[in-house]
Amino acid sequence: MSIRATTAAPALDQWIRKLDHAALDAPWTQPGPLIKPKKSAMEPKLWRWREIEPLLRQSPEFMKPGRGAERRILRLDNPGVPERTAAHTISVAVQYLLPGECAPAHRHTPDAIRFMLHGEGAFTTIEGDKFRMRRGDLVVTPSMTWHDHGNEGSEPVIWTDGLDSPVVRYLENLLGQEFEGDAQPIRTGPPARHLHYTWETAYAELMTRAKGDADPFDDVIMEYLDPATGRSVVPTIGCYLQMLRPGVRTRAHTQTSSAVYHVVAGSGATDIGGTRYAWGEGDFFAIPPRVAHAHANPGDAPAILFSFQDVPLLKTLGFYRVEDSPA
Ligand SMILES: [Fe+2]
Ligand SMILES: [Fe+2]
Repeated sequence: MSIRATTAAPALDQWIRKLDHAALDAPWTQPGPLIKPKKSAMEPKLWRWREIEPLLRQSPEFMKPGRGAERRILRLDNPGVPERTAAHTISVAVQYLLPGECAPAHRHTPDAIRFMLHGEGAFTTIEGDKFRMRRGDLVVTPSMTWHDHGNEGSEPVIWTDGLDSPVVRYLENLLGQEFEGDAQPIRTGPPARHLHYTWETAYAELMTRAKGDADPFDDVIMEYLDPATGRSVVPTIGCYLQMLRPGVRTRAHTQTSSAVYHVVAGSGATDIGGTRYAWGEGDFFAIPPRVAHAHANPGDAPAILFSFQDVPLLKTLGFYRVEDSPA
């Protein structure tokens, strides 16, 4: 018996070495399932505007004004995501541009979505079409479209952007290209079709929704859609605007998708996996996949939330599920 055991093990070791040599793996020779489960790395996380804002306003001391200051961002770093992005699928940052500065034109495979936060005078030029960005406006720069940004105002401007760069990176298709010259020439003639939503339009739509039935999990919510196709703004990320009316407490649910929220106005709290995260204007928070969450607005003013969610990607893959979660 013992002779058999001692002869079998070296034979197996030898065979595994042969497999290694042939670039093959027999996963059943190791304990556990053939496909190793991966624990979700993304964690619930709250980023406070009162911490973000002063650090952002100090950033020109370290990234000097002018040329080279083009993409002065602070990226939301989720402690559980090795790539240091807000979600494992979505990279979210806040960007700071001083008066007169220009973020030179470039293009890249990741889709990018910008939501304007503060300051007057910011613009984005996409494929030669220039768009003003006012507080609450949303501008989409789809994969491989040329884009540059500038600040023609007299005060710094701040926006937040969401990119699907972690997905593109995982798919090993992260590519980019610099434009020749800083800013694209502005096209003449009617602009091409671009996704640009003003705050007035989005807010009016949200108010219209508020007259209808509320969503049990999100209260009053709308997704920004491409009017031509009815689809999400980009294939990977959906953008949402929602209102939690005063006194509302939503039902808890789980989703297979992940989300990064920005508090546009008001205050409230979100219970994520049994921990309560109280948030106020300007804060960001992240909800990992399959973690039960519920929102509450105990105050007497509406709370407005903007969010990036990887719902379209999950739907495309056939993995999108929503489940009621016991409170
Ligand atoms: Fe870019
Ligand atoms: Fe949710």
